[in-house]
Amino acid sequence: MTVLRVSDLDVRFATDRGWVTVVDGVSFSVAAGATLGLVGESGSGKTVTSLAMLGLLPPRTSRIASGSIQLDGTELIGMPQRRLADIRGNDIAMIFQEPMSSLNPAFTIGDQIAETVRRHRRVSRRIATARAVAALDQVGIPNAARRARSYPHEFSGGMRQRAMIAMAICCEPKVLVADEPTTALDVTIQAQVLDLLRQMRDELRMGMVFITHDLGVVADICDRVVVMYAGQVVATDDVDHLFSHPPHPYAEGLLAAMPQAAVPELGGSDRLATIPGQAPPPGAMPDGCRFHPRCPYATDRCAADAVELRKIDQLRTTRCVRSDELQLRGPA
Ligand SMILES: Nc1ncnc2c1ncn2[C@@H]1O[C@H](COP(=O)(O)OP(=O)(O)O)[C@@H](O)[C@H]1O
Ligand SMILES: [Mg+2]
Repeated sequence: MTVLRVSDLDVRFATDRGWVTVVDGVSFSVAAGATLGLVGESGSGKTVTSLAMLGLLPPRTSRIASGSIQLDGTELIGMPQRRLADIRGNDIAMIFQEPMSSLNPAFTIGDQIAETVRRHRRVSRRIATARAVAALDQVGIPNAARRARSYPHEFSGGMRQRAMIAMAICCEPKVLVADEPTTALDVTIQAQVLDLLRQMRDELRMGMVFITHDLGVVADICDRVVVMYAGQVVATDDVDHLFSHPPHPYAEGLLAAMPQAAVPELGGSDRLATIPGQAPPPGAMPDGCRFHPRCPYATDRCAADAVELRKIDQLRTTRCVRSDELQLRGPA
C-alpha cells in the first residue's frame, strides 16, 4: 500500500537572478513498511524535497510551483499551514542529521516528547509523559523513566539521535523522513541507529524516506532507490538491481566512489574513483543531459537535447539515452 506519493514536484527559490528551480519534476512513491532511499551528491535537492513533504519550506523565499504530495491519499500541497502543523509529527515526521535542530536545549527530553504527544493527542500530562518514557524505552534508552528527566546536553550524540527518533515515532507516523540521520555519527553508532530505524519501521509499518549520499547505508536499509542529480530524478531502481546493473552513468559513478569499492578484499580496485567535475548550480544547467559534462559515456547527442526520464521496465527508470547500449556495472 502506497503511503506517500510525490508527483512532478517543482520547487523554486528566490535568488538575485529571480526564481530558480531547485527541484524539477521529482516523482516517487513509498509503500508502508518499505524504505525508499533518496541519494545524490550535496546540492542535488534531497533536503528541499523532504522539507516540501513536511510543509517546512521557507514561506517567502521559496514556492512549490507545481506538483502533488499525497500522504496516505491526502493532498498536502496547498493545505493551510495550521492543518499541515497537525499532520507534521503525527502522520509524517522527520529526523535530521543534527539532533540539536529538533531538540530544545532548555527542556528535558521527556517533556519535549510529551509535548509532541499532547500536541496531537487529547491526553493528560501524566499519560503523555508515560508515552514519552515508553518511546524512549522503545528506542533503547536504558532507564528511560530516569533519562526522560535529562536535558539534551546530558545525552551523548548517539543517545540524542535515539531521543530524536523517539520524538519522531511517539505519535506513530505513517511516514518517517530521515535526512542524513547517521552522517555525523561514528560507524558503530551509525550501525545501531540504522538497526533501530529498521526495527521501528517494521514495528510501526511506516513508510520511510531515507536521504543519504552514502550508498553503503542505502545497501543496508533501503528497498528502492531514487537517484537525484541537479534537482532531477535520474534513475529509480530496486536496491539490488541498482548495485548489480546501475541504470544510469551517474549511479555507476556514485557506486564506484563508495569507500567499499576501493577495498580489494571486497572486490573493489585499490583506488577510489571519484566523479570528475561538479554538479551545475541551480539556474545554470547545461544544455542536453544535465550530467553530460561529467559523463564518461557522453556523445554529441547527449549535449544536444534535454533528456526525459523514461521507463526501462515496470520498476526502473533512467534519464539516459544511452543506458540500453552501455554495460554499466556496480561494485563487484
Ligand atoms: N533557502 C534556500 N535558498 C536558496 N537556495 C536554496 C535554499 N535551500 C537550498 N537551496 C538550494 O537548493 C539546492 C538543493 O539543496 P538541498 O536540497 O539542500 O540539497 P541536498 O540536500 O541534496 O544536499 C541547492 O542548490 C541549494 O543551494
Ligand atoms: Mg541535504
